[in-house]
Amino acid sequence: MQQNNPVFPDLKGKRILITGASSGIGAGMAKVLAEAGCRLVLHYHANPEGLSRTLDSIKDTGVEVETVQSDFSQLSSIKPFFEKAWAAFAGLDGLVNNAGVITKSLSLKDDEADAYDYTLAVNLQAPYRLSTLFAKYCIAAEQSGVIVNNSSIHGQATCEWFAAYGSSKAGLDALTKVHAVEWGQYGIRVNSLAPGVVPVERTFDVLYQPAMEKKWVGAIPVGRYGTVEDMGMATAYLLSDATSWMTGSVLTLDGGLIARGNYPKRD
Ligand SMILES: NC(=O)c1ccc[n+]([C@@H]2O[C@H](COP(=O)([O-])OP(=O)(O)OC[C@H]3O[C@@H](n4cnc5c(N)ncnc54)[C@H](OP(=O)(O)O)[C@@H]3O)[C@@H](O)[C@H]2O)c1
Repeated sequence: MQQNNPVFPDLKGKRILITGASSGIGAGMAKVLAEAGCRLVLHYHANPEGLSRTLDSIKDTGVEVETVQSDFSQLSSIKPFFEKAWAAFAGLDGLVNNAGVITKSLSLKDDEADAYDYTLAVNLQAPYRLSTLFAKYCIAAEQSGVIVNNSSIHGQATCEWFAAYGSSKAGLDALTKVHAVEWGQYGIRVNSLAPGVVPVERTFDVLYQPAMEKKWVGAIPVGRYGTVEDMGMATAYLLSDATSWMTGSVLTLDGGLIARGNYPKRD
């Protein structure tokens, strides 16, 4: 049975590629967009079981779904991957660059350079190449398109351990702006989503430890972690005609975490 998301009716039937849909935020995006009636091309890398769970979670919507595997650290695999994804429904209306690696490493450690290169390949070079291919194919097909780049609050304010991750996300936000400026004339909109702390399978064990939860949730003004559904709803908003005049923006969704800055808490 098809369930329609009443908030974004224009998304029904839209063909959307979501990268990194095998877990976490990508899986939440797939759920919300399937409920909105989108036709989905779901990408995964090394976790086919996770992708099966995503497929299970959306099967009741009855939407058409295709799946495509790719390792984005192998940059030469990106063009054939994109061509498969584009061909799945004879074109795409939207691209969600969500796949990413959350690398923590200290710059003075010996292995930092490799981690840095790997992170930049997956988090920035791959979205750059996918976005460029998407824009070229949309222009050739004389159609409009929408890109959502899943960035992070680390693109705006970051901390120790995140040289690679922070650089990749700040770069992604800059790419969002450049592509918005270059491609507006072709009817292609590009925006970033900047999530704060969103527990996912990878982080449940750590973030739901009572001491960690107290520390993190205590620092978030709205008093809770984000959910993958929060991120899915924001992605639907950015893909929909509700934001037809919005491009080159970074939409921060963090419960107010970085709005606080580093000010000590006042009583
Ligand atoms: N969770 C948060 O608090 C948070 C906050 C801000 C931003 N984000 C961003 O949200 C996005 C999703 O992260 P998540 O938290 O949902 O983590 P996640 O559950 O670990 O999801 C990461 C996704 O990226 C894919 N991926 C990893 N390495 C890849 C590679 N080499 N090639 C292609 N795909 C690869 C994974 O595929 P496989 O599992 O199939 O390998 C998976 O689908 C990331 O861009 C992350 O930076 C997350």
